[in-house]
Amino acid sequence: MVSSLKKGAVTASAPAKVILFGEHFVVYGEPAIALAIDKRAYAHAQLRKDKRVYINSADMHVSGTFMGERFQAAKGGSKARAKLEPVKSAIQQVLEKAQKKVGVNVQINSDIPVSAGLGSSAAVATSTIVAVSQLLGMELPRNQIFRMAYESERLVHGTPSGIDPAISTYGGSLQFQRGKDFVPLNVQANIPLVIGNTRVERSTGDLVANVRRIREHYSSIIDPIIKAGGKIAVDAVEALRQNDLRTVGDLMNINHALLCAVGVSHEALERLVYAARKGGALGAKLTGGGGGGCMIALPEEKKLKQVMKAIERAGGTAFMARKTDVGAQVES
Ligand code: PMV
Repeated sequence: MVSSLKKGAVTASAPAKVILFGEHFVVYGEPAIALAIDKRAYAHAQLRKDKRVYINSADMHVSGTFMGERFQAAKGGSKARAKLEPVKSAIQQVLEKAQKKVGVNVQINSDIPVSAGLGSSAAVATSTIVAVSQLLGMELPRNQIFRMAYESERLVHGTPSGIDPAISTYGGSLQFQRGKDFVPLNVQANIPLVIGNTRVERSTGDLVANVRRIREHYSSIIDPIIKAGGKIAVDAVEALRQNDLRTVGDLMNINHALLCAVGVSHEALERLVYAARKGGALGAKLTGGGGGGCMIALPEEKKLKQVMKAIERAGGTAFMARKTDVGAQVES
């Protein structure tokens, strides 16, 4: 491994994700499918003359300097430290790996809406790891970038499934199943998506706990629903490989109905999902934890704008997204 100090600055980026199929059911061992989308977080890293670590996140509106155990906020007041700690952890892991006692400035800019279930924190951690390691002259293998980003994610989510840092690191589409390795899906289809954000805040942890509660009470009803969710993901892989977007859309609609059945939809999500379908989407469903957050719609190419407008008229913020195969990378 090369480990000389590089002069100047490095910018790296990493993509956001959507869960296309299988959220929540994945907690019970069923497969889930996630896609990297063409919204990215960018980390710009520079060496400092001292040993401090300064981080500025434009999108989280926080900045501050870590000096050993101490922290001084420059922007964002008392909340700044907790928000920047995962980025600091990402930087720290790289500095330790490089065995370099140096300071860095990291500037984070991102196209990814925060706290919306689109994997923003993982993309920030992953791009930071790539930028800082390259700055220090290290070419980290992807599995190491993933492991470091996963460690940093643990500070945000406690026990993350790992799907967010995996997608941010590798890009493309992945099948994920508990206790098994990620399987890259090698989907060639250029999947046009519209993402609608309800801007309703929610806690993924609470929603996961609610599903657990109803499953405990009604296991003979809920278990077959969970199994059906897994079967949808399996069938969806085939439909995606065949570029059969009509089937993918149908499966999205069925998947959404099952997620409603286990109690993780929300009236704001329903409004956007129905508006998207009425606007011409082949399928629409909530994505991620549910209870608010985001939904995704799959329109035919020619109806992309129409579906986006329909979601906006129903009260959501909407943007178009496409699958990207570009995982974490150096930009300059
Ligand atoms: O809201 P997100 O994108 O963090 O997705 C959560 C996905 C769940 O299946 C609901 C939980 C999990 O850990 O897999």
